[in-house]
Amino acid sequence: MLDTSDEWITTRTGMKRRHISSPEEATSDLAMVAARAALRRAGLSPADIDCYIVATVTPDYPFPATACIVASKLGAADKAAFDIEIACSGFIYGLTVAASLIRSGMYKRIMLIGAETLTKIVNRMDRATAVLFGDGAGAVILEASQADSFLSSELGSDGSRPEVLRVAAGGSRHPLTPAAYEAGEQYIHMEGREVFKFAVTKMIEATDTALEKAKLQKHDVDWLIPHQANKRIIDAAAKYLEMPEDKVIINIQEYGNTSAASIPIALSEAVGTGKIKSGDVIVFVGFGGGLSWGAVTWRWAV
Ligand code: ACO
Repeated sequence: MLDTSDEWITTRTGMKRRHISSPEEATSDLAMVAARAALRRAGLSPADIDCYIVATVTPDYPFPATACIVASKLGAADKAAFDIEIACSGFIYGLTVAASLIRSGMYKRIMLIGAETLTKIVNRMDRATAVLFGDGAGAVILEASQADSFLSSELGSDGSRPEVLRVAAGGSRHPLTPAAYEAGEQYIHMEGREVFKFAVTKMIEATDTALEKAKLQKHDVDWLIPHQANKRIIDAAAKYLEMPEDKVIINIQEYGNTSAASIPIALSEAVGTGKIKSGDVIVFVGFGGGLSWGAVTWRWAV
């Protein structure tokens, strides 16, 4: 369909495959699968969770929040539930919000899900975006404990240039009129080169500040789990952090860019294969539409 090649995609991005939801599958459907898997792994039931948060830019509807739908379908309809919409930084922001809510004593257990069906908002004929984005979901459950897991967070944003990365129509600025639809403004538009430069700089800066806040040195970090947007961006950040390849969790080849879902999917796989052990220090770092960015340092304690 497109004027592209496997060679171009592989060398420029590191991607080999993407997963595409079926026409009848919405983001909450993927979120449910991840949520159930997380509950199973934790040995908990939906009622044990006090609050459900979904990080997504592809909600089922503009409103209600996808988190409300997920909680209800899980059978936890009376629990607190809300979405976080900050594109690919969604999981990093979500982790900060969830950990802070627990630390404040507000809630004991929170489920944080990153879930996206980006292929529904990608123009299949736009080679600049169609080859990059995929669908997926990942979930974590955070629980109050004496272990000091949430070591630091550094978040940021710059909304002065929304045109660099956005869906132009469908909001209050430009409602989705027939003319906007004809112009394809319901799809993701991205100036890739601009985002690339910003991404490398902000990933490094955010990581640096988060480490400083946690009083950690680069060599204290056991695992780097970055947002999976481009292997070259990840490699640049890893090089700066002096992280050897085997300490950087990369699965971009399998899923492409799944926005808010990419970090929890990578985390889940790394935990599932036994890579991450209790006591390990993890840096989660991401960036995306907003523009936005963030890094969280975390001591794994399970
Ligand atoms: N196949 C073949 N050629 C292509 C394709 C494609 N799929 N896409 C672009 N090209 C061409 C361009 O037209 C350009 O041609 P030209 O030199 O004749 O103008 C050439 O390839 C090089 O284009 P660049 O944009 O400079 O390529 P670059 O090396 O920067 O790679 C990419 C493009 C992969 C998009 C990269 O810039 C990138 O990863 N940017 C960051 C994207 C990102 O991280 N987004 C995350 C946020 S997403 C969110 O928040 C929802």
